[in-house]
Amino acid sequence: MEIVIKPDYETMSRCAGDFVEAWLRRKPDLVLGLATGSTPLGLYRDLIRRHRDEKLAFARVTTFNLDEYIGLPADHPQSYHSFMRENLFRHVDLDPARTHLPDGNAAEIAAECAAYEAAIRSAGGIDLQILGIGHDGHIGFNEPSSSLRSRTRIKTLTEQTVRANARFFGGADKVPRHAITVGVGTIFEARCCLLLATGTEKAAAVAAAVEGPLTAMCPASALQFHESCTLIVDEAAAVGLKRRDYYRYVYDSKPAWQQWEKSAG
Ligand code: PGA
Repeated sequence: MEIVIKPDYETMSRCAGDFVEAWLRRKPDLVLGLATGSTPLGLYRDLIRRHRDEKLAFARVTTFNLDEYIGLPADHPQSYHSFMRENLFRHVDLDPARTHLPDGNAAEIAAECAAYEAAIRSAGGIDLQILGIGHDGHIGFNEPSSSLRSRTRIKTLTEQTVRANARFFGGADKVPRHAITVGVGTIFEARCCLLLATGTEKAAAVAAAVEGPLTAMCPASALQFHESCTLIVDEAAAVGLKRRDYYRYVYDSKPAWQQWEKSAG
């Protein structure tokens, strides 16, 4: 795992923008895995700015989101369909036909999950997967105890996740209890994972994911086993990392040919 610690949320989001841009320049027909939640909003704002001011192109990009609530109409303001439309899709030149989210209103949820996996496979697999992390260490909606080999399926959200998301719905009683999420195994097959975390409330989850045991009780810890995984976190989210000075040293010592940050040349 590569651990990059940035002073604050804005710098972290810009750094993530550099990371995504480096991939896009190398592979304009990128298959990009996207996440929702408040964490990636700064990255999406940064990508929109790069598209507007620097002509960064998304026209050939294909996207797959991690998850969607079950039972919310796609045009509900809190559906992840709406979230992506408002916070990224409508601001860049993505082809709507190439953007994918699970259909939380499918009549046959199991068939929808199988079709989602098949669509990822037929697009050639995910090149770069953007991830947030839940307070309980979840990635996507893979809550603790999710099989580390799980595939796209229905999950029941933990009470903690429901409480964390209540702020978007105006009350926990309005938060759906179920979601379709890609599995930990699905995420694991992405060629590269980029996990973002901000704020002290994520510090324990980040520490468990990076320095704790590999365990289904912290699904993000599966990333320790991933071939190519970068975490970009702000100082506040890094406070629980015992070896943070070492991660800084490694990052500062990167040879020039390994550097993807624009500011790093
Ligand atoms: P957040 O959610 O970015 O809104 O904190 C992250 C997650 O639950 O994966």
